[in-house]
Amino acid sequence: MRLPAHLTVRSGHLHIEGHDCVGLASQYGTPLYVTSEDRVCGWFRSYEEALGSRYPRVRVLFAAKANGNLAVMRALAKLGAGADVFSSGELQLALEAGMQPGRLLFNGSSKTPKDLRLAVEEGVKISVDSLDELHQLEAAARAAGKTAEIAFRVNPALEVPTHPKIATGLATSKFGIPHGEIPAAYREALACTNIKPVGIHCHIGSQILDTEPFARAAEVMVRIAKELTNMGVKLEFIDLGGGLGIPYHHDSDPALTPEDYAAKVVPIFRAGVEACGIAPELWVEPGRSLVADSTVLLTRVNSTKSAHRRFANVDAGFNLLIRPAMYDAYHEVIAANKADAPLDIEYTVTGPICETGDILAPERRLPELTAGDIIAVLDAGAYGFAMSSQYNSRPRCPEVLVTGSRAALMRRGETIADLTATMQCPPWQ
Ligand code: LLP
Repeated sequence: MRLPAHLTVRSGHLHIEGHDCVGLASQYGTPLYVTSEDRVCGWFRSYEEALGSRYPRVRVLFAAKANGNLAVMRALAKLGAGADVFSSGELQLALEAGMQPGRLLFNGSSKTPKDLRLAVEEGVKISVDSLDELHQLEAAARAAGKTAEIAFRVNPALEVPTHPKIATGLATSKFGIPHGEIPAAYREALACTNIKPVGIHCHIGSQILDTEPFARAAEVMVRIAKELTNMGVKLEFIDLGGGLGIPYHHDSDPALTPEDYAAKVVPIFRAGVEACGIAPELWVEPGRSLVADSTVLLTRVNSTKSAHRRFANVDAGFNLLIRPAMYDAYHEVIAANKADAPLDIEYTVTGPICETGDILAPERRLPELTAGDIIAVLDAGAYGFAMSSQYNSRPRCPEVLVTGSRAALMRRGETIADLTATMQCPPWQ
């Protein structure tokens, strides 16, 4: 199997940045998420360089929903990253990580009055999803004696090649304002006293393994930019949304790079804004492609069983990685302590959750497994821990960050006491 540079096999063990996964599993216990800081930073720099070498005013925002660990966000903040935040929680995390408020975009199709007040107070830019939200935001800004800088979220009505649950810019999606109604929305925003429209925003979908859809989105956005410029809107940024999909099937999916993305999208963007006579910042907000391949989820084989299939029952399930159950997503699996053994047997790798759908990896060739073996689930850094739960009352596992020869916890594992910490019995009990 093709492995990225930070994953290697030495003496039969899988290593991440030179750290033996088997050693990490025994030191910290399983299940365990392990993330390479350098890998995350490398992808961030690749986006900045690929875009920045083609257009001078670029800002890369990390989509915090993909991985909300403070240490991951801090590593990116140190590089000057901003963030796309989708809740007050993500906003506060981004600020705590050291990101500058001016580099944050508060997104979301269903913001609460409290979200709007926080966004106004912190002075972050807001992606407004509806006219109703615009008027609520105007009221919040007026009450605070401030001006809210906004972009509208454009629904570009684009069909994209990805799982329907993560196509976000379809005409039928819940997100954004239909592209035909966008000029009217900006007219309304221009008429508000405490709102300043400064950008446009879109997101077409995630896990897209083709640059073409991003090019089509850029075309829609520069066409809108022209109309808005003609109306007198002074665009300071155009946000083209998320990043590329990643090659979850290591040997067959196309491994697109930020270079591929930039080479396709920036010429369209550049020509479009030049035709408007403006030079707004180009914003992108990748999540998956910055963090997915940085991380392995290490899980221990509890038992094996031969029934109508051979099962390897491991200690991580959809409580810790829901992508296979939710989107039929594929993640490569490797026996971390038998990484160069022949792949003799087909196993279905199943988690410990009380649901038939708790399958991490169906029908995979693996070496003969026994209890105690360690399975590494690859590419688990995006929407992995971030979407975890305590289902079946399973405390969430720890996360470790590695850089160079160093490894450290970046989140301790939860305990049974954590499970009940927020619960209380009503007085009548
Ligand atoms: N910006 C906005 C407004 C988004 O909605 C998203 C992702 C992103 C940026 C980041 O997109 P990316 O670069 O990661 O493609 N849980 C799903 C993915 C959901 C994506 C939702 N929005 C999964 O595990 O595949």
